Amino acid sequence: MIVTVQQHILQQQEDLFPAARGSFSSLLSGMTLATKMIQAKIRRAGLVDIVGSAGDINVQGETQQKLDVYANQALLHCLGTRESVAILVSEENEQPVTIDRSDTGKYVVVFDPLDGSSNIDVNVSVGTIFSILRRPDQVHGEAAVMQPGWKQVAAGYVVYGSSSIFVYTAGQGVFGFTLDPDIGAFVLSYPNLKMPECGTYYSVNEANADTFPHNYRAYLQSLRSDGYSSRYIGSLVADFHRTLLKGGVFLYPPTQKKPEGKLRLLYEANPLAFLAEQAGGLAIDGHRRILDIVPTAIHQRTPLIIGSRSEVTRFQQLTAQS
Ligand code: AHG
Ligand code: MN
Ligand code: MN
Repeated sequence: MIVTVQQHILQQQEDLFPAARGSFSSLLSGMTLATKMIQAKIRRAGLVDIVGSAGDINVQGETQQKLDVYANQALLHCLGTRESVAILVSEENEQPVTIDRSDTGKYVVVFDPLDGSSNIDVNVSVGTIFSILRRPDQVHGEAAVMQPGWKQVAAGYVVYGSSSIFVYTAGQGVFGFTLDPDIGAFVLSYPNLKMPECGTYYSVNEANADTFPHNYRAYLQSLRSDGYSSRYIGSLVADFHRTLLKGGVFLYPPTQKKPEGKLRLLYEANPLAFLAEQAGGLAIDGHRRILDIVPTAIHQRTPLIIGSRSEVTRFQQLTAQS
């Protein structure tokens, strides 16, 4: 028989959070509902007026696409109505969306509603990324969000590709579920995902390579001389999903224009780092483990090197020698 994501989460909740009394599963069902709404909209891109720019610039100084706006609204609505949610933080909102549930609100949910927006209009995979933290007792507002990634209770993403796949961890392995459009449920398709120990691809925006720090350029050169091939989609979720299944390494290094890299710590690097480690891989910022970084701002950026144990360790060894 099939196992749906709801059944799986209920089981994990019983095993991991026996005191949760349904709040964790209710929170995650808000997430699956929102992502089903988003994927339904994406599947109709080109048929309804949903592609293109919404005309606004977001907090990152980037043009918001209509789907960025729709995805954000779907998540804010579906999660904001869950009793257990205290605070929502979105890439598309400058400030945390604080919900006045100081007593019942146990969780902080941080998300990138639509990742890979430059790929929306051209039928290339995009995704949603999320991270769930416990709100510390007596701590409210932005202070409750400033926690290192190792404190995440759960994290995951949905990749809207040739099928929609929901991948999550609650600290007890990584599980993937494929949306069965006939029954409208995410069905377990990847039980206990493990990243291959090493792979054959590296994934980086090579157009920026001239301004990468020297150790990054030397690293890429050494992978090339060992016969590695390159894959770069430009949607972090999709590039990570491939890396999770096939192994290898994804990097977004510091560049001259973006000395801290481009990707955001709280809702891009942290959730994927949690998944990578749970699947046997590694994630670093070039020096430190991503999950050890104590954030100082909700939209802060970080360089990211994430993937198979062998490739990430190789970067560390090469950097130590240079
Ligand atoms: P978002 O669409 O949420 O702003 O994220 C875009 C990110 C990420 O998905 C991808 O890895 C990266 O931008 C690509 O950046 P470059 O175009 O600089 O390669
Ligand atoms: Mn993104
Ligand atoms: Mn985004």
